Amino acid sequence: MLSLERVERSLESAGQSHVLQFWSELSEEDREGFLQELSQLDLDGLKEHCEGATRAAASPPASLDQNIEPVPPEFIGSVRRSDKRSLSEWENEGLLQISGNQVGVLLLAGGQGTRLGVQYPKGMYNVGLPSGKTLYQIQAERIHNIQELAGRKHGSKCTVPWYIMTSEFTLAPTEKFFKENNYFGLEPSNIVMFEQRMIPAVTFDGKVILQGKGKIAMAPDGNGGLYKALVDNKVLEDMKKRGVEYLHVYCVDNILVKMADPVFIGFCVSKGADCGAKVVEKACPAEPVGVVCRVQGVAQVVEYSEIQPETAELRGPGGELVYSAGNICNHFFTRAFLHDVAEKFEAQLKQHVAIKKVPFVDTCGNPVKPTKPNGIKMEKFVFDVFPFSRSFVVFEVVRGDEFSPLKNADGAATDSPTTARNSLLAQHCRWATAAGATLLDEHGNALPPTTSVSAGNNPPAQCEISPLVSYFGEGLEPLLKGRTLPTPFILDEKRAKELQAQ
Ligand code: UD1
Repeated sequence: MLSLERVERSLESAGQSHVLQFWSELSEEDREGFLQELSQLDLDGLKEHCEGATRAAASPPASLDQNIEPVPPEFIGSVRRSDKRSLSEWENEGLLQISGNQVGVLLLAGGQGTRLGVQYPKGMYNVGLPSGKTLYQIQAERIHNIQELAGRKHGSKCTVPWYIMTSEFTLAPTEKFFKENNYFGLEPSNIVMFEQRMIPAVTFDGKVILQGKGKIAMAPDGNGGLYKALVDNKVLEDMKKRGVEYLHVYCVDNILVKMADPVFIGFCVSKGADCGAKVVEKACPAEPVGVVCRVQGVAQVVEYSEIQPETAELRGPGGELVYSAGNICNHFFTRAFLHDVAEKFEAQLKQHVAIKKVPFVDTCGNPVKPTKPNGIKMEKFVFDVFPFSRSFVVFEVVRGDEFSPLKNADGAATDSPTTARNSLLAQHCRWATAAGATLLDEHGNALPPTTSVSAGNNPPAQCEISPLVSYFGEGLEPLLKGRTLPTPFILDEKRAKELQAQ
């Protein structure tokens, strides 16, 4: 911990002496906590941080819209447009890499889930499935199953380590939740949780915001904080030690996420890519997803908050959106690429400005909840490393099979607990029907088969299949073929054993 004098001097030279204005009013204990917090700040970089934030907020960067172009279709791999043989070759390649312990997954879970409005990490959210599973549990079970699938196919016992990036807000509750749930049956030493950095929020005139008399308003440095956090926490070294060469990075809220997706991994590996992004066709111009495109010939994502509506609405001759490659925050990286980013490019990553309402204490020390935006938060974005890639690929997947994010509270028309739950149940009804089962509604009437994903996301019945039984619809025929199943129907491991025995 630094001395008070050292901190005072640094704050003064950064033009931030106000930070200590309530020092004399703090208890001994609060002083110690505050000094600890201040010692962890990048005091040498504080002046630049505050000045940079005001500069960026005052003159937002020129819009990229003039220079963007869509990624040409021939550079986009696609589940829909590929033949069965290619898909199966990629899948085999992915499973082979997984079976050789070369693949890890990394969850971005440092966000505050403001839109959803819960006080705990989003991964702990229960969307109301018949099983009551949380997002974390679903993800853990998918990891478990993909290890089994790859191991069985190649006669090995393999591990997909799960790296979880948290922040000051989410680390402790996430750790506690995993512990209480016995790590959902995974080996604790293969789950590596680490924290991203936090940085101060700043007023429009460049002053660090005090959230309390002895507390600075801090926020995580964006999901692009990943690259610093990988170094701070020696995650790249851990990957090297384990022999992990490929990393699938994903965001916490997509209930349909295919963890360590062998098709995606296999596609990227076969193309010799060092970096890749999964996309879905955008649902409508205003959908809040970034678009994967090219800016002056270089692959990039233009975020939904930064694209002009006129650009988002552009349509081609057939009425299709010109910028339709919607980023679903599922990225592929080789370890070598991440190493390069950490060594050479991290400092060049763009800073994005978010203007927010940040609670603060006024000059008399009274807490204030602002009614209009008063603060600048600076964030880095995980996809801003794409321009540094030497071999970047895009892989388009089917939305109904792979993307249904939980962003908003119930009541919202899209991306809510209800839409997430429905997407999963609709998918599982399709899997059961495709495996040869007939589902009955609650009155015992047979439901018409729904095998096509274009049937939409309203589940005809409550049918939930545990990821421990099937990772992506495989292996269900021997259990379900020719059966008539009353719903609600939950196919967990126990039920699968019973069906097998019948
Ligand atoms: C993100 C993508 C957007 C994409 C959309 C798809 C970014 C910057 N934007 O937008 O292009 O179309 O998902 O759902 O990736 N997180 C951290 N630390 C932070 C901030 C966020 O780990 O400091 C994590 C969150 O916990 C979450 C993920 O990053 O898992 C995405 O963050 P979120 O705020 O949900 O991103 P969106 O704005 O929805």
